[in-house]
Amino acid sequence: MPKGHPTKIMNIPFVDLAQQQQRIRTDLDRRIGRVLDHGAYINGPEVAELEGKLAAFAGCRHAIGVSSGTDALLAALMAKGIGRGDAVFLPSFTFTATAEVVLQCGATPVFVEVDAATFNLEPNHLREAIAHTAKMGQLRPAAIIAVDLFGQPADYQAINDLASEQGLFVLADGAQSFGASYHNRKVGGLAEVTATSFYPAKPLGCYGDGGAIFTDDDELAAACVSLRDHGQGEGRYDIVRLGLNARLDTMQAAVLLSKLTIFEDEIRLRRLVAQRYTEGLSDLVETPVQMHDTNSIWAQYTIKLPNRDAVAESLRQQGIPTQIYYPLPMHLQPAYAQHGGGMGSLPVSEQLSREVLALPMHPYLDEAATDTICGALRNAIRTS
Ligand SMILES: Cc1ncc(COP(=O)(O)O)c(C=O)c1O
Repeated sequence: MPKGHPTKIMNIPFVDLAQQQQRIRTDLDRRIGRVLDHGAYINGPEVAELEGKLAAFAGCRHAIGVSSGTDALLAALMAKGIGRGDAVFLPSFTFTATAEVVLQCGATPVFVEVDAATFNLEPNHLREAIAHTAKMGQLRPAAIIAVDLFGQPADYQAINDLASEQGLFVLADGAQSFGASYHNRKVGGLAEVTATSFYPAKPLGCYGDGGAIFTDDDELAAACVSLRDHGQGEGRYDIVRLGLNARLDTMQAAVLLSKLTIFEDEIRLRRLVAQRYTEGLSDLVETPVQMHDTNSIWAQYTIKLPNRDAVAESLRQQGIPTQIYYPLPMHLQPAYAQHGGGMGSLPVSEQLSREVLALPMHPYLDEAATDTICGALRNAIRTS
């Protein structure tokens, strides 16, 4: 134990899916049982039912279920025809999937600096990166992937304005932000196309891999529906484009339909947890900043600490799990380094990677648990 006042060790999970399951177990059993009864494991009725509900929730015309958030991003880029010779601008401080899909479709990633307060794409740096790429003349500026990191939407007004001025496609990586809103619009309707993830730990998660694509554009939606199913045309063996095997399983759709019934309440609970953390910690550490007229879904509650590793170790010794999202920005990852400017080129992203620490976050983290975590953090900072 570190020095200072010892904190009582509690069993606090980083994410608690068990409590959620208890709440909906009867409904889950009923819905999964129905899939077992009808046996349509691929493209079963639950998929279309879920897509209708997701589109209504997000307030957009189309929601297309796919096999993961990564495939949602890839299919969206493919549907738009992004490929060789195209530059795709994305934040360096993100999960690897955002960069991976750009290279998978043959395009080139251009890593852009983020805003230190919001962790999201910084519009002035974005403008500079687009201008620089255009001036170099080797790549055609084609698309922007804006990531809603930790559940807070990026600055879509600035990003969409810049994109329409420059004729670029905007893909929102809303893998962490489904359920959040920006300027009174929900994630799903903030960019030309949005991709989200239903990975189990996400705010809306299934019991395996899953994802969805959102758009108001009928043609892009039709292309994504074709793409997720091997590039099918009118008939099953009529292949009109290079596609993917990227469908959402019926079982996962059934799970998501059940979880959707409590999602609004879970959003409310997540916001309460975040509020309690901020009240308990703002005199102690740099707590997350929310932009004006933006409502995060708090996929993560991420603080910044100059001596992050020592504090994380002290918390671990006190029984408090934490995570580091992300320990290395994408422009420094070995797989992508050739497309980046090396160490020192994106100092904010690099510093965030050294300082960020995500605290336990889920809707069922009660007051006693948040108090314990805040107390343990106070203790850790005093003694680290
Ligand atoms: C920002 C971001 N983009 C994309 C993804 C990929 O989602 P999935 O794991 O469902 O493929 C994730 C998931 O962790 C993510 O956090």
